[in-house]
Amino acid sequence: MLAADNVSISFGGVHAVRDVSFEVAAGQVYSIIGPNGAGKTTLFNLVSRLYDVDAGSITFDGEPITRVPPHQVAERGIARTFQNTELFEHETVLKNLLIGHHVHRQTALWEELLFLPKVREQDLVFRQQVEDVIDLLDLQSYRDQIIGNLPYGVRKMVEIARALCLGPRLILLDEPSSGLNPEETEDLSFWIEDINEELDITVVMVEHDMNLVNQVSDRVLVLADGVVIAVGTPNEIQGHPDVLRAYLGD
Ligand SMILES: Nc1ncnc2c1ncn2[C@@H]1O[C@H](COP(=O)(O)OP(=O)(O)OP(=O)(O)O)[C@@H](O)[C@H]1O
Ligand SMILES: [Mg+2]
Repeated sequence: MLAADNVSISFGGVHAVRDVSFEVAAGQVYSIIGPNGAGKTTLFNLVSRLYDVDAGSITFDGEPITRVPPHQVAERGIARTFQNTELFEHETVLKNLLIGHHVHRQTALWEELLFLPKVREQDLVFRQQVEDVIDLLDLQSYRDQIIGNLPYGVRKMVEIARALCLGPRLILLDEPSSGLNPEETEDLSFWIEDINEELDITVVMVEHDMNLVNQVSDRVLVLADGVVIAVGTPNEIQGHPDVLRAYLGD
């Protein structure tokens, strides 16, 4: 479903990502781990087209997305969350979830201006999608609250909800458990499984919490200093000497 082929990018002299290749199959939960500065977020920024690759290519569903504009990545079915949540602080949960709507509109501007039936129909469908996501992630009690007043753990879930409201087939989660307490992290593991199994969405996740990674992942990619040092099942990764070295040194 998603493949990177020898992807590289550098910033000044820093090789943030160097000749990285990986393949994510439809239906997988695929985790990317590695020490701070390994290039994990940069990889997400390349896939979601915030950054241009210096070299290499990226395909989604077998089609190249290496050079498509960012909005097209979303239209094709890839949604993401950010390491530091990027929500509209002064708006309600519901408003934040409704914001992604325009991405999937199939109507022309003139139709929207005239507010034709087709437009209204799409609005209703989207409203229903948003309500379904609110139900799925158990956010009913927060729907009319202002983001700025919510605890961090809830905001993280709202960010995931917002990505789901785009109706993606692939979701990129950048450190979904960061800032969550152990109980919230446990809940998160169940949400991730629901998203993967019930909504049939492929999940690629950058994560530091190895319990969570081991619990939900089909495969794990290990990055260090911008290069791939291992890929395998959680079990295969755990005892891998190169992985231990990357985290602990010699
Ligand atoms: N826009 C940028 N400009 C300059 N350097 C950047 C930029 N984005 C990333 N880098 C550098 O690329 C390297 C990889 O950063 P990245 O954020 O991808 O790491 P990470 O694996 O996500 O780390 P963390 O676990 O701390 O989030 C770092 O050295 C970082 O400073
Ligand atoms: Mg990061």
